[in-house]
Amino acid sequence: MATRIDGKALAAKVKARAAEEAKGLARKPGLAVILVGDDPASRVYVTGKEKDCAECGFLSFEHKLPAETAQVELLQLIEQLNGDEDVDGILVQLPLPEQLNEEQVLNAIAPEKDVDCFHPFNVGRLVIGDPVFLPCTPAGVMEMLKEYDIPVQGKQCVVLGRSNIVGKPMGTLLMQADGTVTTCHSRTPNLAKYTREADILVSAVGRVGLVTADMVKEGAAVIDVAMNRNAEGKLCGDVDFAAVEPKAAYITPVPGGVGPMTRAMLMQNILTAAKRHQGMD
Ligand code: GUN
Repeated sequence: MATRIDGKALAAKVKARAAEEAKGLARKPGLAVILVGDDPASRVYVTGKEKDCAECGFLSFEHKLPAETAQVELLQLIEQLNGDEDVDGILVQLPLPEQLNEEQVLNAIAPEKDVDCFHPFNVGRLVIGDPVFLPCTPAGVMEMLKEYDIPVQGKQCVVLGRSNIVGKPMGTLLMQADGTVTTCHSRTPNLAKYTREADILVSAVGRVGLVTADMVKEGAAVIDVAMNRNAEGKLCGDVDFAAVEPKAAYITPVPGGVGPMTRAMLMQNILTAAKRHQGMD
């Protein structure tokens, strides 16, 4: 039976550490959050991030814009926040409404305030092994592996999904930790051929029931990044948890696994940004 990786408990530890360190700063770390439109899931995520900021003793400044906001207005706001001394980190909640150009928006955020690590400059620095910030979700996964003494070096790591937010940077961090990484995606035939070889399996696809027990190697560490709703409307990941749990050595639950860790790593990035901004790092 697998050990359940407790993301909630580890996230609390990471946040407590950030809160303690923030006390030593002259000014409280500040996060500006931009939320465009009324997507209910985005609203929940933003509220969660603001709650985490409060818990860590950080300030959060919410900028709620109507769904019909024009590109130029959003860019102007980002420009203003780039120059705001009280703002250490800027986060534009995704997805954006259709009329907005996401790439241009993310490009407009000053790299030193890009606590999501989405700016191409920061992505490039990450890939060459000289990161400005670590991407929150993949960094949260790495933190979990470390906490539970799950070795990566020399291990077969299989990542399902190739998104810019999770799949690509996840593969990068696992490779930098000396894992042998295979990235699978929607055009990969015979997914099970790869997943069955995985010592560490990270699924970030967003499909209920994608990872079944027969796809998992005995004793693997199974990390479920997805946040789906099943037919009954219950939150669940990509992994058939009940069937995989007896076979894996480690498994993350959904909810209570990767999600809280993503938010905790965001707090860590805000602290890092604030320390640099105040000349403390
Ligand atoms: N939408 C879904 N995940 C994320 C995230 O990590 N950051 C931002 N800004 N938007 C998201």
